[in-house]
Amino acid sequence: MTSKEIVRRRTQLAEMMGPGTIAIVPAASERLRNRDVHYPFRQDSDFFYLTGFPEPDAVAVIAPGRKQGEYVLFCRDRDPEKEVWDGYRAGPEGACRDYGADDAFPIEDIDDILPSMLERTERVYYTMGTHGSFDQRLIGWLNRLRQQARAGVHIPWELVSLEHLLHEMRLFKGRAELSLMRKAGKLAARTHRQAMQRCRPGMFEYELAAEYTYEFAKQGCEHAYPPIVGAGGNGCVLHYIENSSQMKDGELVLVDAGAELNHYASDITRTFPVGGRFSDVQRAVYEIVLAAQQAAIDAVVPGCNWNQPHEAAVQVLCQGLVDLGVLKAPVEQVIESQAYRRYYMHRTGHWLGMDVHDVGDYKVGDQWRALEPGMVLTVEPGLYLRASDDLDPKWHNIGIRIEDDVLVTRNGPEVLTRDAPKSIVEIESVMAR
Ligand code: GLY
Ligand code: MN
Ligand code: MN
Repeated sequence: MTSKEIVRRRTQLAEMMGPGTIAIVPAASERLRNRDVHYPFRQDSDFFYLTGFPEPDAVAVIAPGRKQGEYVLFCRDRDPEKEVWDGYRAGPEGACRDYGADDAFPIEDIDDILPSMLERTERVYYTMGTHGSFDQRLIGWLNRLRQQARAGVHIPWELVSLEHLLHEMRLFKGRAELSLMRKAGKLAARTHRQAMQRCRPGMFEYELAAEYTYEFAKQGCEHAYPPIVGAGGNGCVLHYIENSSQMKDGELVLVDAGAELNHYASDITRTFPVGGRFSDVQRAVYEIVLAAQQAAIDAVVPGCNWNQPHEAAVQVLCQGLVDLGVLKAPVEQVIESQAYRRYYMHRTGHWLGMDVHDVGDYKVGDQWRALEPGMVLTVEPGLYLRASDDLDPKWHNIGIRIEDDVLVTRNGPEVLTRDAPKSIVEIESVMAR
């Protein structure tokens, strides 16, 4: 991400906020795993979107019209001794020099400086509920100002969620963001192809997961979310992440794995036969999910609303379940009664961006939102036929999902993950040996 693009975002946000307001955006905190060991640090997406600043223990403030500069960053001070152990810190000087802050202060001084900035504003933009301990500090500052109101201290009238403005911005991806998302999609798609080639009966699910971990790491990425590798009946467990079973010939394996590149996610699911050949029964179900996915992708166009891809997928899946004889009722009734939800219990996608389930409203008022160029979403229908007494055993343990990442453009859907093999012919030919 270029610093120019980040500056543009701050300017746009400041313009939308207007004078007499302030936005406060905390960085993510380091989380303890146990004793001296932390979880790998991942910067908060809102914070990174506005700052590009990679460190924990920081707070960004945007104060439109502030004379000494609109963008203030509180961050860790330089500390030669700590830096020997934990590495370089930008410090306030580096925050101004390298990250474009107009003014920067050590994070320890925030209690002295931020309340006086709040005092001069009418409205505070802040997202409550995601930074628990910071919420309490902010409320503390505001309460203290309120106590001084009789002494003539001005207090802000409104505390407004920053999400409405910021997440609306994040929903529409800019050129640099799309370039990263294309790369993340391509890289993950290529990895799915490789994993198909390396898959063998007798391997454990975690061995297949390791193919993704290795390839992502080698490309400077990480998993955008814990990968799901479920063979046979495990493919019917939506959030299966144990990845601990041995994969057998004759089973399908469902792999949901996406790479995160420079804070941007891809999210791909492919389902393929462990032994390289689909059985007739697997083939029949797979073709239905594939057709449902294509119908949904066709609806990812300006002029359609958020729900239309889902409706298109449900229509095809239901027709398929009836044709197979898995559900015995007219299609309209299957849809109306939602009887299909036993086999398709999730929705067909979500926004995608810095977060794998990205921010942005799905409705405007009580209407599904219109799709517009620059939005990126996943399209991921599936069918999950768990073993049960009232289901013909030939369908048992077939779990299939097919997931791609799709950009809405004026010229139709752009599938960012199209390089991952998807048709039966292509999967079997990639896996042939
Ligand atoms: N990998 C999470 C999802 O597909 O939504
Ligand atoms: Mn997804
Ligand atoms: Mn997924």
